Amino acid sequence: MNDEKAYWDNRYEEETTGWDLGAVSPPLKEYFDQLTTKDIAILIPGAGNAYEAAYLHDNGFSNVTVVDISEIPLNNFKKNHPTFPSERLIHQDFFKHKGEYDLIIEQTFFCSFNPSRMNRVKYTTKMLSLLKPDGKLVGLWFNIPLDATTEKRPYGGTKKEYLSYFAPSFEVLTFKPAHNSYIERDGKEFFAILKKRNIKKQQNNPLHGITLKHILEHLVAVYGWERMDQEVRINCFAINPAIKSSLRFLRKTPWAREKVERLYLKSLKEK
Ligand SMILES: C[S@@+](CC[C@H](N)C(=O)[O-])C[C@H]1O[C@@H](n2cnc3c(N)ncnc32)[C@H](O)[C@@H]1O
Repeated sequence: MNDEKAYWDNRYEEETTGWDLGAVSPPLKEYFDQLTTKDIAILIPGAGNAYEAAYLHDNGFSNVTVVDISEIPLNNFKKNHPTFPSERLIHQDFFKHKGEYDLIIEQTFFCSFNPSRMNRVKYTTKMLSLLKPDGKLVGLWFNIPLDATTEKRPYGGTKKEYLSYFAPSFEVLTFKPAHNSYIERDGKEFFAILKKRNIKKQQNNPLHGITLKHILEHLVAVYGWERMDQEVRINCFAINPAIKSSLRFLRKTPWAREKVERLYLKSLKEK
């Protein structure tokens, strides 16, 4: 956490916060305005100055939690919004956060991680673990395809790439270019509503639509190779482990594949 924390503290201290809209993001405001149940549990990770949290609070939403790795914006927020419950302003690494939410809001958070496939799977997996069954991840993701020249934040992606992370574990209710973005982001972001797949409801085939590659990437992000090796004793997890060689082995070894799939389902049930 220390390097990341120092990086973000520094950005706030130096006021190099080019991402900060200074107000609630319009597509999110529109989404919030049509919600009728005001006591749903909402999480805003990497919220920064948390304009979305302020808007929700001012509009009667009573169960909003904010998490950020930097204390600086949290302290500013506390000062400017004294009636917001301070125990729900959490200074923590999102990946260590525990809880159960009906709704998680994405706003310029995903794009701040180094865009490795592993980081993106880790983000998706963490979101899943924090959502209640049928919970939703809603927000904005930059429509800026990554290429070899993409060297700095915000790290975006294509719809195809995003869906490769989300579609296996979420029902994609909406994933489209936002129509009412803040002016400087016009044409540069997708608005999405992703509903966690309820594995209990697809009991007959809980692995429907989930690829073996996704399963392996998920397990590496959640457990790491060492624990995978302890859980399923196969050489490809123990010696020079890699996704490609494991895929090759598992595709031709049904008994091992079955064990790995069982481990995946177990990991989804763990908090
Ligand atoms: C690009 S800023 C966006 C802030 C805010 N969402 C906005 O749009 O104004 C990214 C935010 O994520 C926070 N952050 C980065 N990594 C984090 C982590 N692992 N856990 C919690 N917060 C993190 C940073 O401190 C920063 O406030």
